[in-house]
Amino acid sequence: MVHSHMFSRDAVPGGEQHLSTRVWVALVLVLTTIGAIVAPLRIVLGDDLIPHTVLLDALLTLLFTADIAVNAGESKRTGLPYGRFLLVADCVAAIPLFLIPGFSWLLCLRLFKLARVARAMGAWRQQHLHRWNALRLVYFVYWLAIAVHWLATGWLSLRGIYPGGDRWTLYLHSLYWCISTITTIGYGDITPANNAQIVYAIVVMIFGVGMYGYVIANISTIIGNLQPARTRYLANMEKLGAFMRSREIPPAMQRRIRDYYGYVWEHRLGYDETSIVQGLPPGLLVEVSLFLKRDIIQKVPFFKEAGEELIREIALVMQPVVYTPGDTVFHAGEPGDDMFFISRGQCEVIGTDGRTVVATLRGGDFFGEIALLEHRPRSASVRAATYCDLYRLDKESFERVIAKFPEFAAHIGAKSAGRREGTGGPGPRRPASR
Ligand code: CMP
Repeated sequence: MVHSHMFSRDAVPGGEQHLSTRVWVALVLVLTTIGAIVAPLRIVLGDDLIPHTVLLDALLTLLFTADIAVNAGESKRTGLPYGRFLLVADCVAAIPLFLIPGFSWLLCLRLFKLARVARAMGAWRQQHLHRWNALRLVYFVYWLAIAVHWLATGWLSLRGIYPGGDRWTLYLHSLYWCISTITTIGYGDITPANNAQIVYAIVVMIFGVGMYGYVIANISTIIGNLQPARTRYLANMEKLGAFMRSREIPPAMQRRIRDYYGYVWEHRLGYDETSIVQGLPPGLLVEVSLFLKRDIIQKVPFFKEAGEELIREIALVMQPVVYTPGDTVFHAGEPGDDMFFISRGQCEVIGTDGRTVVATLRGGDFFGEIALLEHRPRSASVRAATYCDLYRLDKESFERVIAKFPEFAAHIGAKSAGRREGTGGPGPRRPASR
């Protein structure tokens, strides 16, 4: 007997199924599918078609009986009802049919177990809504393959069994007829010869037309949606191209705009991180923010040693921004409303003469702190030398954080003092090229 506590879900965060539950469900589904394939074949082509059928029957009966116990235990534990139809389907499928000789058609009852497959598919759909299009495609192919197999065995039963003939070749011919009829190809090399076969062929043709319509209507959409980010990006780029042409934006500027979107696409799949994260509940928001900003947290030496509380506070308020090569982040003399941490790329600090590169800052460096600490205008201009992924900390949050965490204020202050004395710039002094 299989004990239901072995299959508990609660040990795993996020309601994910325990590994043993997943293995069990997979086993039941695989054997159900094998049963659904083998049963009609045995009914039509004879019980001796496959060796060791008694063993297979015994195994299926044992497994399906154990599955009832497992499902009953799960439903008791989770409080979710078993479901009358599922209970009946599970019980019917678990009847030891192989003990009733001479009634091979009773094997059909085992197909009731497919209700479990449908139920599992529904559950996966709920758990993996973000992969719904890929799953839809898989489910469609699964049910279509089962339906085609059944229709092919149905056709085989109408053509009669030829004693001593190669039964697998017969099945192959039936499958070939079925697929060519369903796909509306219809070569006409295998044709119905009596009324029953004509009626059956009509049914399969109608099914085929319905299938064909479904495929045409859905598959292209499903495949198109498999890469939603890419589809969205391409559509946006097309819209952007039309807009830029209509507004006669100069080609060089057009190229920069395209390059920017290309960069954002490459590094963030074109998603606006902030707007996606903002919709999350507070607890999850902190965790996701920390995870998304782990690059900057690992790069800034001070953050690596900082306490968890400070990191959390800062991760929540830092906003990602992208600058393209040549963009000015701010000009000398402007009032300072924020400071920046560099996650990726290089920024140049330009002296007040507007030409000299005082310092080149890289991933892990920060800038814009002097104006905030000393409440005075920007002491220099800062320009992006390459594509730059920066994190922006606004003045209000900065003041709140330094008030709460003196060690942060001390670190920023020390680095800032070095810069004011002209020692903090890690990069070479050279005239600005732009
Ligand atoms: P802030 O004065 O707000 O704006 C310009 C920023 O450039 C300044 O803050 C510093 O963060 C940065 N900065 C100024 N001088 C240097 C320097 N010598 N080395 C590195 N960074 C500097």
